[in-house]
Amino acid sequence: MSSLTTALLLGLLALRAAAQTQPPSGCDPTWGNTTCLDNPALGTTLDYSFNNTLSEMDPQYFNFYILEGRAEIVMQAAKGVGIISTIILLSDTLDEIDWEILGGNETHVSNNWYGLGNTSQHNGEYPLLAGAMDTFHNYTIDWNQDRLQWIADGQMVRELKGAGKGLYPQTPSVIRFGIWAAGDPSLPQGTRDWAGGDTDYSKGPFTMKVKSVKITDAASNVTSYTYQDTSGEYKSVKANPGDSKAFLAIHKLTSAQKAAAS
Ligand SMILES: *[C@@H]1O[C@H](CO)[C@@H](O)[C@H](O)[C@H]1NC(C)=O
Ligand SMILES: *[C@@H]1O[C@H](CO)[C@@H](O)[C@H](O)[C@H]1NC(C)=O
Ligand SMILES: *[C@@H]1O[C@H](CO)[C@@H](O)[C@H](O)[C@H]1NC(C)=O
Ligand SMILES: *[C@@H]1O[C@H](CO)[C@@H](O)[C@H](O)[C@H]1NC(C)=O
Ligand SMILES: *[C@@H]1O[C@H](CO)[C@@H](O)[C@H](O)[C@H]1NC(C)=O
Ligand SMILES: *[C@@H]1O[C@H](CO)[C@@H](O)[C@H](O)[C@H]1NC(C)=O
Repeated sequence: MSSLTTALLLGLLALRAAAQTQPPSGCDPTWGNTTCLDNPALGTTLDYSFNNTLSEMDPQYFNFYILEGRAEIVMQAAKGVGIISTIILLSDTLDEIDWEILGGNETHVSNNWYGLGNTSQHNGEYPLLAGAMDTFHNYTIDWNQDRLQWIADGQMVRELKGAGKGLYPQTPSVIRFGIWAAGDPSLPQGTRDWAGGDTDYSKGPFTMKVKSVKITDAASNVTSYTYQDTSGEYKSVKANPGDSKAFLAIHKLTSAQKAAAS
């Protein structure tokens, strides 16, 4: 009897999406590595409208981190039970900020955050937003040291107040978006339940459409970020001045041209 109760409780606790477990660069300074490579910075604003397909996007634009700032994505989520359309900010210390739209839920969207990849955290919230799969909506994350806001179609639906490491995302983060099948039968039951049920692949293809992205790094004139110790704290991160690769690519300049122009 008691083992059945435990199993049920574990099932309930697992009713959520999982925190990411792999740092984007492959090196998490809080694991004790003091020689992780610097994180390339955005150091400017990337404002990009898609007219055709994702393949028109130059991938070099997206190889960057922001340390606070803002991300706006206008997208139509994929329809389909167990299919999740995701916008994720993720740092090498596994600080994480998400929008996750469940393709089987016509009434609510979801957002979440994790600090230092702490898988015991249950921070998901489910604001009302109808028709995420029917039309384009604007999902914005506005992030500074004092507060983190999730804004849907101009309406702030969540605010998290600044706090210490592990309790507030505070380290340089990459931005990724795309879809994944949280209802895949190979995944843990708790994840599939959170996803709203198992994915029926015969209902595919499942398509998330992105109209535009606008991403701003809070700092300008920064070429990269360095972790100066293994604490995972905001104050341990140093911004290195200069033109980032992303800055030069977005403004279609070489460093030499930039220097000549100034
Ligand atoms: C530390 O990180 C560097 C750069 O990513 C990597 O080359 C090295 O193998 C890592 N060392 C350990 C012990 O993880
Ligand atoms: C999409 O169209 C707009 C308006 O014509 C243009 O400014 C922009 O450069 C185009 N985007 C791409 C990625 O081609
Ligand atoms: C959609 O999400 C809300 C909030 O979690 C939940 O109350 C509702 O039952 C969900 N609807 C479906 C169809 O899963
Ligand atoms: C992880 O988060 C849980 C829930 O907030 C908390 O009780 C626990 O202390 C955290 N673990 C660490 C290592 O910070
Ligand atoms: C998206 O929402 C943000 C926050 O309200 C707003 O500042 C921005 O202009 C919106 N972007 C678009 C493309 O509508
Ligand atoms: C940007 O950083 C470089 C390198 O430190 C410095 O020489 C330059 O003056 C800075 N530019 C601005 C606009 O702050």
